This record gives sequence, C-alpha cells and structure tokens, in this order.
Amino acid sequence: LFAAPVEFLKGVVAMNGLPPSDRVEICFAGRSNVGKSSLINALTNRKNLARASNTPGRTQEINFFTTQGGPYLVDLPGYGFAEAPVNIVKKWQELLKAYLSGRVNLRRAFVLIDARHGVKKVDEEILSLLDRSAVTFQVVMTKVDKISKAEREKVIAQVKGALAKHPAAHPEIVVTSSEKGEGIETLRAIIATLE
Ligand code: GTP
Ligand code: MG
Repeated sequence: LFAAPVEFLKGVVAMNGLPPSDRVEICFAGRSNVGKSSLINALTNRKNLARASNTPGRTQEINFFTTQGGPYLVDLPGYGFAEAPVNIVKKWQELLKAYLSGRVNLRRAFVLIDARHGVKKVDEEILSLLDRSAVTFQVVMTKVDKISKAEREKVIAQVKGALAKHPAAHPEIVVTSSEKGEGIETLRAIIATLE
C-alpha cells in the first residue's frame, strides 16, 4: 500500500468539495500540533507530503491523499486551537462534524493523542462525536520519544481508562514516534487490513 507513492489529491473546505466516496477512507484527527501531518509523512515515507509545522492550526483544510489501490488518507484540521479566531473555529467544527457524521466510506478514524498529555477534555468531545456517528476509532499515541518508559505505562493506562467509556473505540492503542519511526510499520499494517 505504501510502497507505491502516496499523492496529495486535494484540500477541502466544505462538504460539497469532497471527492466521490468511491473507495474506503481513513482519517487522522487530533488536537492542533499533536503530530497528524508528521504521522502521515512518516507513514508515506515522504518528508513534506502533509505539511508539518510548529505553528498550531496550520492544517486548516481536510486534505485528501491517495494510495495505490488502497484507501484515501485524510488529514483533518486540528481541533482545540484556542488562539484561532472564533468564527474560524466554528467553521472548522461544523465541517468536522459534518464530515465525521456524514461520510459513508469512512472506515476508521485514527485519533492522535500526545503521549505527554493523554486524553483531554477537548479529545473527549471528538470521541463522543465519533460514538454518535458510529465511526470506529483507534487511538494513536504520538511523540513517545518525548517521554520515559515509566511515563508511557502511565499514559497508556489513562488512555485505556478513557476509552472504556466509548463504544466506538477500538481497544488497541498504537504507540508511535514519527521522529524515531516507532510504531509506524504497525500502523501501516493496520491500515492495510481496512477495506
Ligand atoms: P496541525 O496541522 O496544526 O493541527 O498540527 P499537526 O497535528 O499536523 O502537527 P504536526 O505534524 O505539524 O507536528 C507539530 C509539531 O510536533 C512539529 O514541530 C513536529 O515536528 C512535532 N512532532 C510531530 N511528531 C513528532 C514526534 O513523533 N516526535 C517529536 N519529538 N516531535 C514530533
Ligand atoms: Mg497538520
């Protein structure tokens, strides 16, 4: 799936801009700066396919990437970016809601959680939205290179506790570092099974 080049298809700012739902789709959701774009770059072996930056809230569109014969990969706008103007935040939230609840070919949402922070209130909102939308979601912990082994066990326990309340949660947590490559092959294998 990831051996052939993954290509950027389009950035979408409204529901009517979505590409035809003619193939399976998976999306990556998470707070601003959690590492969504970096994860997509790591998965696809591309340095700058999905733009990664230090400026939170940089990815403001729903970005579609095509794999050869596999699913669309979708990079969602980051949520919980407090400094963005209120009207912009509202617009993103509406789009996110419409997308997650209305996209018929969406097989799984990967919800990225920063290993240093665990599941926060703002994450809970999206997890509940995924429950209501009946979209299976799986947690991907990001930036594990930034914490110790002991901290890792603690945050995994916290995330597991939070997931227990969510019927749409897949029980397996994928632990990753886009920087060090940890967990990337595991995640590729999971994605390859989704049809
Ligand atoms: P938005 O598009 O703004 O929502 O952000 P994003 O979720 O796409 O995050 P992005 O990939 O742009 O990464 C944000 C910052 O975290 C960048 O400075 C990355 O270099 C850094 N980062 C991402 N993944 C990792 C990781 O695994 N380890 C470390 N140490 N840093 C990471
Ligand atoms: Mg991004």
